[in-house]
Amino acid sequence: MGKTLTNRRYYEQKIIQFPRNTLPKEKARLYLNTAFNNNVNYSKHSILGYPGTIPLAASIEALIKFLALNANNIGTHTRIESEAGFKGTQGLERQCIAMVGHLFRADNFANKIDGYLNSGGTEGNIMGLWILRNYFRKLYSATPVCFKTALTHYSIQKAMNLLYLDKVQVLKSNSLFEIDLGDLEARVRELFARGVRYFVVIATLGYTVTGSIDRIESINRLINRLNRELGVIIKIHLDAAHGGFIYPFLTKNRYGFNLRHVYTMSLDAHKLGLVPYSCGIFLCRKHLQRFIETNVDYIKSHFDDTLCGSRSGAIAASLWAAITSLGMVGYRRIYNKCLASKLYLIKELKRKNINCWYYTNDSMNIICVEFNGLRDNRLSEKIEQKYGLNLAQVPFSESTRNVYKIVLMPHVKGTTIDEFVRDVCSEHREIGRTNPSFG
Ligand SMILES: Cc1ncc(COP(=O)(O)O)c(C=O)c1O
Repeated sequence: MGKTLTNRRYYEQKIIQFPRNTLPKEKARLYLNTAFNNNVNYSKHSILGYPGTIPLAASIEALIKFLALNANNIGTHTRIESEAGFKGTQGLERQCIAMVGHLFRADNFANKIDGYLNSGGTEGNIMGLWILRNYFRKLYSATPVCFKTALTHYSIQKAMNLLYLDKVQVLKSNSLFEIDLGDLEARVRELFARGVRYFVVIATLGYTVTGSIDRIESINRLINRLNRELGVIIKIHLDAAHGGFIYPFLTKNRYGFNLRHVYTMSLDAHKLGLVPYSCGIFLCRKHLQRFIETNVDYIKSHFDDTLCGSRSGAIAASLWAAITSLGMVGYRRIYNKCLASKLYLIKELKRKNINCWYYTNDSMNIICVEFNGLRDNRLSEKIEQKYGLNLAQVPFSESTRNVYKIVLMPHVKGTTIDEFVRDVCSEHREIGRTNPSFG
């Protein structure tokens, strides 16, 4: 204890200038150790609120091995020849894109999609909207109207802000926290009557707080109908940052690029792909990246068609190792365990008669819970901190719900759930009955 305090005091002396000389090794170690211990450790702490977990050993091993090579995977390796020095990691990345594309029905990968590994869901969302904005500009000299909901991840707002996509319509969500298809159709018709012809629907596979999933196939069908009837052109960007690495493993009804209007997609492997940060995946229909190409005279391809420029090749090795170490069967086994943890949590909340409301989607490892027996539906700060939980407001019907997002990641143990339910019980003043889920 005394030692920890000393370490902490030492650590809290701020280093505010670039050091003139080397920091003695012992001091540097002290700093780094304190910082290390100030972080959440998924294998030791009871974290229920973050979509992160312990990465797979195979992915860490590959990452460490390739970090030493300091490979730069700049460019998109499904469509261009880039820097000649990094063919190994470029090849691994190409295979990662093919394997993940296969999950999303890019059945004839080589002809169907392009993509690259990136910093995460945010970058993929910016890429998707950047491409679609330029697509409509170049082919139709128009800026599309974008549809989102109040639940759409805030990175979409960032993307719209960056791209001057200011014709935004916020759609209603239905009682399952999905895009309200009736509202979507009504708005397209209303805007069509005012002369608008071009639209982008931002759909989500696994909303951040609710874990709900938009009915992508129905949206695609609706677009087909509106396209035939009105001649409007509507493209879908799919934000699959959270759900992209779990949903396809748990459903027989896999979809993605088999749907005509799905053009661009953003996923995160550093969430449920069980790979260390930063590992996002951007996918799009073949050659769409040409809409955002920038000429570069000093690299072999003579252009760059990604947002980030230089990036790690080691992460391709890490994702490749994760995917091939588990395969479909291995990932499914892990995700089924996450679903079993979620069902166990629900069972325990019910068994203890905790007065709460919740929503969950059957194929997702998220449950959002409103604790109705607590003042302002709020847990104490101590419990929030212990489990890494934050209160969030989600629109529901004509009002809002104050919910906690609980993410049942692979590190969550039954004993953690038991402890959490005990802690919640001890906070409850009114004990009532649990309302049934409608997820
Ligand atoms: C639905 C959704 N989209 C996008 C993002 C952004 O992902 P990242 O933080 O990897 O940029 C998140 C992150 O939680 C998300 O849940």
